Amino acid sequence: MVFDLIDVIKGEATLSQALIRDKRLDTLALLPASQSRDKDSLTEDGVACVIAELRARFDWVICDSPAGIEKGATLAMRHADVAVVVVNPEVSSIRDADRIIGMLDAKTAKAETGQCVDKHLLLTRYDPVRARRGEIMNVEDVLEILSIPLLGIIPESGEVLLSSNVGAPVTLGSPGSAPAQAYLDAARRLKGEGIGMVISSDKPRLLHRLFTRRAA
Ligand SMILES: Nc1ncnc2c1ncn2[C@@H]1O[C@H](COP(=O)(O)OP(=O)(O)OP(=O)(O)O)[C@@H](O)[C@H]1O
Ligand SMILES: [Mg+2]
Repeated sequence: MVFDLIDVIKGEATLSQALIRDKRLDTLALLPASQSRDKDSLTEDGVACVIAELRARFDWVICDSPAGIEKGATLAMRHADVAVVVVNPEVSSIRDADRIIGMLDAKTAKAETGQCVDKHLLLTRYDPVRARRGEIMNVEDVLEILSIPLLGIIPESGEVLLSSNVGAPVTLGSPGSAPAQAYLDAARRLKGEGIGMVISSDKPRLLHRLFTRRAA
């Protein structure tokens, strides 16, 4: 039987019963949050209680959040120490992220006690060629609008879907690929390691500069 977060909140299953251990990584476990069951059971106190128990058991507790700014997002961010704001280079995504950043500064447990949630930006599905053509937003514009520190840039890549089709995250399914490397670097930065970042949109500019100099 598969239990989920709501079962744990209602006391119908223990956390150990509900946690699903990953088959590949024995330090990783998943706690499913039901899609179909009554969301009213996802009370603030209930979620707080489960997160406190998870905190005691694991080094990192990552609360995935639905897109947008609805109740799911506010519940997921409520007890955060650190937030990774994931955005696509599209206006609608940036607009949501801007509102999420405002909520992180106002509606979290930390904010209410005068503390600050550490915020990081992860820009994903980035295609420097399309950004240069002006079809999507470029890194500089995104950073200027959201003005929180950049954790990483994940390039747009077919490898992500290829891996997910065989049930693996790209970091395990295709570890040598550009998106996998970008994810691994971002994770190391989140842990506080000083990993350098090449902003891919800079590369063509550099080439362009070298080329125009030579031509001059
Ligand atoms: N770097 C990438 N390059 C290409 N495709 C990607 C990349 N990252 C994600 N995708 C694709 O985008 C889709 C959505 O990805 P994902 O589920 O991670 O987003 P999400 O915002 O969490 O979605 P949801 O709101 O449904 O939870 C998937 O089909 C995935 O394969
Ligand atoms: Mg998702």
